[in-house]
Amino acid sequence: MAGIYVHIPFCKAKCRYCDFASFPEKIGFAESYMACVCREMSKRSAQLKGMKFDTLYIGGGTPSVVDENYIAMIIAAARKYYDLSENAEITIEMNPGTVSAGKINLYKKCGVNRFSVGLQTAIDSQLRELGRVHNLNDFVMCAKLLSGENFNADVMIGLKGQTADDVKKTIQVAAAFGASHISMYALTPEDGTPIYTDYLNGELPDSDEVAELYEEGRKQLEELGFHRYEVSNFAKKGKQSRHNLNYWRRGEYIGFGVSASSCIGDTRFTNTFDLDEYFKCILSDNFAVIDVQKITPEDKKDEFIMLALRTCEGIDLARYTQLFGGDFLTDYAEVLKKMSIYIDISDKNVKIKDEYLFVQNTIICEFLRG
Ligand SMILES: C[S@@+](CC[C@H](N)C(=O)[O-])C[C@H]1O[C@@H](n2cnc3c(N)ncnc32)[C@H](O)[C@@H]1O
Ligand code: SF4
Repeated sequence: MAGIYVHIPFCKAKCRYCDFASFPEKIGFAESYMACVCREMSKRSAQLKGMKFDTLYIGGGTPSVVDENYIAMIIAAARKYYDLSENAEITIEMNPGTVSAGKINLYKKCGVNRFSVGLQTAIDSQLRELGRVHNLNDFVMCAKLLSGENFNADVMIGLKGQTADDVKKTIQVAAAFGASHISMYALTPEDGTPIYTDYLNGELPDSDEVAELYEEGRKQLEELGFHRYEVSNFAKKGKQSRHNLNYWRRGEYIGFGVSASSCIGDTRFTNTFDLDEYFKCILSDNFAVIDVQKITPEDKKDEFIMLALRTCEGIDLARYTQLFGGDFLTDYAEVLKKMSIYIDISDKNVKIKDEYLFVQNTIICEFLRG
């Protein structure tokens, strides 16, 4: 089963660290944008006839910043044009500074059954420093509105002046107010964002400090009953994100809207990151794709290994054989020997040892084009 992603490129304000496709100053175009996304969904549907979809993920940007009726429209279009299963996981991303009871009620009525809330940190001074539009109290109000719902809280580590106690407090707050899933991301200071200057000035924690914050966060999460299933993702039992699991298992997905990418069969394609260009393409009855890549069998194998090694289940040996025909332990015998201190091998899986998962990049590189 495949996933559907819809990108909503609007926010109330741009956070200092963010280089996602989001345009706060263009929020006045939201209505036209939604109409274009529905048109894109309709136009693509003929090519994907017969495919079954199990998840819909409405991300951004900040989907909760636009009128909730536009979200209802997107969900209706997904159901109209695609074979979206009855019990599909439907997720919406929300910024706590943009929610209301009315919005959440309508989302639920339309079938949203998973919410993802950008908490980032429970320390108000750090939220201000990041340029967030919300404070801790807004998160608490949002979490109360989501009481009893399945919701994720995004948490960031590696912030200026952040201590291990700050990370622990943030996780404790998210857990105490009902999050069933927590994503803990290390801040990436992207070139071109305002926070990059802080990075150049040496004001952000270095990689060893970030690794310590991660370790403290991980311990706190495990103590509170959140099990890690991917390097940055922790969930209570049975609350893993199906949408993301499909992505890490190298399943197929189709993306709609600005900057959305898709992976169908052996083709990967990405839409334009430019909102005006997106409008132009869709309104002239074209797609808005700017990049198409045919995935070679070697690329496919590399991607499969790279994504699987970021997860706690690791590489499923039977699935490797099913997909690529060989035997992973034989094909990668040399690298496995070289990396043996970092790797656990069982008769079903090959995975990076728990204690090395956070520094998986260098280990994974050894396996690519192995
Ligand atoms: C699209 S946002 C979530 C919804 C909403 N836009 C918000 O920020 O509240 C996805 C998440 O990516 C993470 N993120 C964004 N930029 C990042 C960066 N440069 N480094 C690390 N994490 C980042 C944040 O934790 C953010 O919550
Ligand atoms: S609210 Fe989310 S998408 Fe929008 S600028 Fe901030 S991090 Fe980026």
